Amino acid sequence: MSATPAARAEELRRLIRRHEELYYVHAAPAISDQQFDALMRELQALEAAHPELVVPESPTQRVGGRPADGFATVAHAAPMLSLDNAYNEAELRAFDERVRKGLAVEGPVDYVAELKIDGLSIALTYVDGRLVRGATRGDGTAGEDVTTNVRTIRALPLRLHDGPAGAIEVRGEVYLPRAAFERTNREREAAGEPLFANPRNTAAGAMRNLDPAHVATRGLLAWTYQIVADPAVVPPTHEALFRQLTAWGLPVEPHWQRCAGIDAVWAFCEAWAETRKTLPFETDGVVVKLNDLAERERLGMTSKFPRWAIAFKFPAEQVTTELREIRVNVGRTGAATPYAVLEPVFVAGSTISMATLHNAEDIERKDIREGDTVIIEKAGDVIPRVVGPKMPAGATRQAPWVMPAVCPVCASPLHRDADEVVWRCGNMSCPARLRRSLEHFASRAAMNIEGLGEALVDQLVTAGLVHDAADLYALTASQLEALERMGKKSAANLIAEIERSRGNEVWRLLYGLGIRHVGERVAQVLARHLGSLEAIAAQSPEALQTVPEVGPVLAQAIVEWFSDEANRALVAKLTAAGLTTVGPVTATVEPVGPLAGKSYVLTGTLASMSRDEAAAKIEALGGRVSGAVSRKTTAVVVGAEPGSKVEKARTLGVPLLEEAEFLALIMAS
Ligand code: IVH
Repeated sequence: MSATPAARAEELRRLIRRHEELYYVHAAPAISDQQFDALMRELQALEAAHPELVVPESPTQRVGGRPADGFATVAHAAPMLSLDNAYNEAELRAFDERVRKGLAVEGPVDYVAELKIDGLSIALTYVDGRLVRGATRGDGTAGEDVTTNVRTIRALPLRLHDGPAGAIEVRGEVYLPRAAFERTNREREAAGEPLFANPRNTAAGAMRNLDPAHVATRGLLAWTYQIVADPAVVPPTHEALFRQLTAWGLPVEPHWQRCAGIDAVWAFCEAWAETRKTLPFETDGVVVKLNDLAERERLGMTSKFPRWAIAFKFPAEQVTTELREIRVNVGRTGAATPYAVLEPVFVAGSTISMATLHNAEDIERKDIREGDTVIIEKAGDVIPRVVGPKMPAGATRQAPWVMPAVCPVCASPLHRDADEVVWRCGNMSCPARLRRSLEHFASRAAMNIEGLGEALVDQLVTAGLVHDAADLYALTASQLEALERMGKKSAANLIAEIERSRGNEVWRLLYGLGIRHVGERVAQVLARHLGSLEAIAAQSPEALQTVPEVGPVLAQAIVEWFSDEANRALVAKLTAAGLTTVGPVTATVEPVGPLAGKSYVLTGTLASMSRDEAAAKIEALGGRVSGAVSRKTTAVVVGAEPGSKVEKARTLGVPLLEEAEFLALIMAS
């Protein structure tokens, strides 16, 4: 007797889910791809013939329509917390001490140690066993509704096996396996697109893509580790919870281990610091959690973190190689930054041949010289850095390196402000500065002039056709056609692109000017609040600080930029060229990056960088720097001889970060 179409459809859905689970969760396929496709095609045909059989949780329905107005903001049922970190054994043991003290336990307590997945956190809502919503962490209180994208992740069931009645929220991590990351970058390279820095950023980018069909091709996967639900549904221990998630068909990273006491936890951390390299995905540490949920309840949480869990961060990977040469790069602000040219070496997933050296003082302090064997470190996506020399005692070495007195590009003298460690080329028309500024001006995030990349900028500057961004608007097709490798069509396209950019919203221009600390989001906020470039230029630092998100460092940078004669001339020239300098702002860029939504206050003198540099680093990672401590401050970074901000932070219970912790944070972010 043949089954009814409804029964067969249900059977196929069950089979397909079982094989998806074997393939995407357990990496243990039981049938060939062809056999799997045959099941899928049979279900598609059946559903096409009987549209009434299509249900949202059918595997044919993973890719839906795109959300019409971008992602909606959704509030989380309970805050999505982050974790306190431990960077070494002592800090891990201190955590254990606190836990046992808090529980008033003398002997060892039971933990579960699991891998910390380097992805992005996700909250999945299942109602009566059906996936109805997926949301990003956002600021922990509210995130973005990314249901359409979450549904494309084939490690995640659209329907649970024997799921509980009512609503539950399952939390976990979406990640991109290394292989899928490498494939994505190979494709981007072939298409001439900029490469992603690491799998985490790539996964985060994919989750924010508005086209679920595109997301489905990315190869995102997920692991889950938390249930937020009615206490009756939540198992009493973490190990039981893992078994429950697995039984529901949710992906659980299988290497977790119950540890009776901190010694076993430390052994787990030590073992995985090495073994992690063999995993098909990236992990940046071990999350240690109290096994017993009732004990967790007793410990509770601080204002930021649960007291019952900690993230042990693996040390950055280090290798040694030869430092061939120290060169100096000149950026668009004129900052002359030394960098190391290395004997190529493989570290943390890629081959590197260059590494930053921060600044001349740092090189001197660490006594790094050309020809040295040096230790290189790479943590996450952070550009590799030279930790220091590793030379046998008594080895013959070259003379200490000295910062060149003049700019390596235009030969103008390099100078340094008293309160800064950075040397700068002060020549506003230094070709290096000009090239970098033009590249930035034309970049996708700024004026978005397609086709105007590094190579063409170089040609325009070398040919003497462009001396500042405003000159772009005077270019003619025949001038462009005269350049090497430039056809009639490309020239016409570029002219059209430049033309089009005149009408860009004013924030793009503001961002494109390359004012220090003014990122896309800040440019939008400023343009929205002040309405025109002219108005922004006319503000005092105090007035600027009344604009939301604008702190003293930023305000000062803006005022300084607009008080420079050459900059004012550039703005006048751009205005005369007919660019939009007033008008509405329709776009919003949410802060992105690992420090997005976090706000820091800097106080005292840091040994490794100026406060401006520290602020720039925080902002580059998506965080904000503010001048005053409030309850909303994530942490205060404390340098030598700090001010009253430390007291204020203590009163408000805002965490303090020593310089070393701050460096660890920006290195790990
Ligand atoms: S538990 C209250 N477990 O790490 C506890 N988090 O630094 C909530 N993460 O925001 C987190 N792997 O996105 C937990 N096995 C794991 C994790 C994990 C990665 C992420 C998570 C969290 C961040 C905290």
